[in-house]
Amino acid sequence: MLDEECARGPGRLRVAVLVSGNGTNLQALIDAFPKDDPRVELVVVVSNQAEAFALERARRAGIGSRVIHHRDFASRAEFEDALALVLRERGAQLVVLAGFMRLLGATLLDAFPQRVINVHPALCPAFPGLDAPRQALEHGARLSGCTVHFVDGGTDTGPIIAQSVVPIAPDDDATSLGDRIRRAEHALLPLVVSWFSEGRVRVTGRRVSVLPAHTTR
Ligand code: GAR
Repeated sequence: MLDEECARGPGRLRVAVLVSGNGTNLQALIDAFPKDDPRVELVVVVSNQAEAFALERARRAGIGSRVIHHRDFASRAEFEDALALVLRERGAQLVVLAGFMRLLGATLLDAFPQRVINVHPALCPAFPGLDAPRQALEHGARLSGCTVHFVDGGTDTGPIIAQSVVPIAPDDDATSLGDRIRRAEHALLPLVVSWFSEGRVRVTGRRVSVLPAHTTR
């Protein structure tokens, strides 16, 4: 993998958000990047669940949305082709998985190389997959947190862009810990998207670097 600047073109960064559920991370992006934000434009929200509350958040914010249900397609590749078509139609330059609970494979990732990122509620590579806060508690971890990483086709395995640490309290349960981790996500994810909008993210193999502010345009 080359040392590449990721995802920036001229003008505002066009960001697509993929969701499956409540969409509090989508809300954090909507709040961080309102309609007149000079850096980032949220161009479409795509859900694989018709009942996801995230779709209502998009509607309230005046962002176009689409439901693309994986069960409507014969294969993962066809599902991802349909996703890629919508993302291309909307001119997405960065694709953010914000509680999108499907694994993505080569069809989508090859269409958006180094342009798909995910937020995961654990300190990767610990506790990938579902129920990460519960996994951390059951393992007896003292610290957990959240990770924003590139998506590479594995389960929460891609190059790490940024992490926030969340201490685990003795009386935490999966709900209380999950809530605190989500609050950390709401700060971290918009921050990472702003780095992309400033053209500051570079990736070399597994190593991601974030250039200091004001070193690019
Ligand atoms: C978030 O905590 C996100 O990290 C997690 O789902 C939650 C979605 O919340 N994603 C994963 O676990 C992916 N492996 P939200 O719908 O309120 O943003």
